[in-house]
Amino acid sequence: MRPSVVVLTGAGISADSGLATFRGAGGLWEGRRVEDVATPGAWRAAPELVWRFYQARRASLASVEPNAAHLALAEFEATLRRHDLSFLLVTQNVDDLHDRAGSKALHMHGELASLRCESCHLRVRDLNSVDPDTFVDCPSCGPIRLRPDIVWFGEMPFHLDKIERALMDCTHFLAVGTSGNVYPAAGFLQVAREAGATTYVNSLDKPENLSPFDRFRGGRAIDVLPHLLEELTNEFGLGTR
Ligand code: OAD
Repeated sequence: MRPSVVVLTGAGISADSGLATFRGAGGLWEGRRVEDVATPGAWRAAPELVWRFYQARRASLASVEPNAAHLALAEFEATLRRHDLSFLLVTQNVDDLHDRAGSKALHMHGELASLRCESCHLRVRDLNSVDPDTFVDCPSCGPIRLRPDIVWFGEMPFHLDKIERALMDCTHFLAVGTSGNVYPAAGFLQVAREAGATTYVNSLDKPENLSPFDRFRGGRAIDVLPHLLEELTNEFGLGTR
């Protein structure tokens, strides 16, 4: 059977680039209610607060770089594509580190680099306007403020059809740096496992959704992922990377 790989990443893969994860000590949700900054209701009730939260995160992208785990994944993807093998990188992360590493990632929870008009649905790529107190108007509708192009709680993640299809067909599934708390992403591990894929999980702590059938590799993604991907490259008979 020809290998077909799906990788799901979460905040943990960007931790060693200096971006905070969500849960646990020092996480983005510590001392903050998601209802206040990450829901459509919050955007309606207190847009200034929501805007400031996301503007700070958009600004932070200028001072971080992809790390060894992002780079190893991009190289792995290039190797598989060279051999005409199927590969899909799905990320819950809204940072642009996979993209800057050279990967073609599906951003299921949206992207900080993008703003969106709720009226005409125009998407604008913009990482220059990061002033915390200045909204950006839609270039097409005029005085309608663009919202962060982020999937908030209560909204439907992007690209689910394409992801579901790839999960049903994959032979290998890897979950990297995600706590397995937020659905539907947290369910992908089980879907892939039940579809017959070999499943690998890398994170610091065992995630909520881990099963005894998953191959857990504890540790930092920058340490674990380059070796794991090299192992798979060899297993697939694609030589040393
Ligand atoms: P979490 O903050 O929930 O989990 C981060 C995971 O990364 C944990 O399992 C850690 O053990 C692991 N981790 C931390 N540092 C690591 C490292 N250096 N190497 C490997 N693993 C490491 O983040 P997510 O699971 O990504 O959604 O959160 C899922 C979603 O919840 C996010 O996309 C966001 C959030 O609310 C929205 O905003 C819609």
